[in-house]
Amino acid sequence: QQALGTDLPLKGKRVLITAGPTYESIDPVRFIGNHSSGKMGFAIAEEFARRGAQVTLISGPSSQVLRAPSIRRIDVSSAEEMYHSVHQEFPENDIMIMNAAVADYRPKQVAPEKIKKSPSEFVIELVKTKDILSSLGEMKRDDQILVGFALETNNEEEHAIAKLNKKNLDFIVLNSLKDEGAGFQGDTNKITIIDRHLRKETFPLKSKEEVAKDICSKIADYL
Ligand code: CTP
Ligand code: CA
Repeated sequence: QQALGTDLPLKGKRVLITAGPTYESIDPVRFIGNHSSGKMGFAIAEEFARRGAQVTLISGPSSQVLRAPSIRRIDVSSAEEMYHSVHQEFPENDIMIMNAAVADYRPKQVAPEKIKKSPSEFVIELVKTKDILSSLGEMKRDDQILVGFALETNNEEEHAIAKLNKKNLDFIVLNSLKDEGAGFQGDTNKITIIDRHLRKETFPLKSKEEVAKDICSKIADYL
């Protein structure tokens, strides 16, 4: 069932994938998060495992369940926790796919007790999180492949190419939110993959499982 030629390059490769949102605590019971379901990242992890890769999945809070027992799963919550977990695992891996929807900001202070409501306005001061993917782009070895995602709503390819260059990526997967059926919560996605030589391929709307196959095949072809 597995004998397709394009599958072979991934056999035994060590692949690190991040998935899901991050939660940035406000107080012990509240957080700032986003609508990422984790589906896309989990589907990519499953597809690499199916092709014989050794997969580690670092996931933010997600209700997704892994079917492949060979996948090692590490659960994290905040962007800071994801940063540390990714940095611990990255050197051991051949391919890194940064699919998580990492928060760009976190509350400057986390209240130690539940914040009580008051009659006046309530302002939360936010500070920037670390850009995990950029930090990997700076330390990446020549034998490692680094893949990022970009979620854009306007000037999509231009923004995606800027991220590809700025973060020193080998590939960027552009998720178009313009298209019906593409994005965070659904079961389908529409992507364009752009490589470091700015070669690009746009795929039709597909299930996230099929999209995961296209991403794996693109990386397998490159190897
Ligand atoms: N990313 C990351 N660490 C962050 C923010 C983003 O590693 N703190 C990664 C995402 O996982 C994704 C890529 O960077 O692979 C692009 O994320 P995106 O949100 O599209 O871009 P940003 O660089 O955060 O810029 P902006 O949100 O302003 O478009
Ligand atoms: Ca962002």
